[in-house]
Amino acid sequence: MQYKRILLKLSGEALMGERQYGIDPKRLAEYAEEIKKVTDLGIQVAIVIGGGNIFRGVAGASNGMDRVQGDHMGMLATVINGLALQSALEDADVHTRLLTALEIKEVAEPYIKRKAIRHLEKGRVVIFGAGTGNPYFTTDSAAVLRAIEVNADVILKGTRVDGIYNEDPEKNTKAIKFDHISFDEVLKQGLKVMDTTAFTLSQENALPIIVFDMNTKGNLLKVVSGENIGTKVNL
Ligand code: GTP
Repeated sequence: MQYKRILLKLSGEALMGERQYGIDPKRLAEYAEEIKKVTDLGIQVAIVIGGGNIFRGVAGASNGMDRVQGDHMGMLATVINGLALQSALEDADVHTRLLTALEIKEVAEPYIKRKAIRHLEKGRVVIFGAGTGNPYFTTDSAAVLRAIEVNADVILKGTRVDGIYNEDPEKNTKAIKFDHISFDEVLKQGLKVMDTTAFTLSQENALPIIVFDMNTKGNLLKVVSGENIGTKVNL
């Protein structure tokens, strides 16, 4: 296997499956199966999940809501998704721990870096909830931050597109996909991989990012095995 410890970033929207809102249990179960295939091989898996299927702070702010208030709601949404994913993983017989950046200790363990690493070493999937615990940061930033803190080898950004293109492939069918691209080139070409804060943090810490299609069965395993099916961003 190419990677021993990965941080998987999933978007909240991905959990909607065919729905317009909320969580599709079928999609959740599929993700759990994909993750199990990887943990069964002894790969250590940490997960950060977004909350956009339930609430987005930025959208709240654009409708006149205080941004901090909105971001707090968004962070709680990621905890809801984390709990759902934890349930689905447990249904698939995967051991998990949910650790949250905001203390809600009746619901989940508070985030403690050393504890997170210990859980990973024991083969538990660690789900990080509540983002970074701070407003004005995205869950992509949380993913990069946690990946660096727990010393993950790579961030795997599971999306519905199969990599990074020179143009939006959903708008232009002639868009060209990159197999590899450098951080500098992404910035130079103004490509959207993650928000700038998250992306820069990853670059400064030489943490590679792989963007891949999480909705195709077997893909997560392929990426972890080193198959070049998405786009890899590195120095
Ligand atoms: P080890 O000590 O490494 O074996 O880890 P462990 O997580 O099994 O031990 P611990 O006794 O800390 O936790 C037992 C269970 O309680 C696990 O399911 C934890 O997720 C859960 N747990 C631990 N601390 C908290 C907490 O502060 N809040 C909540 N809600 N659950 C917790």
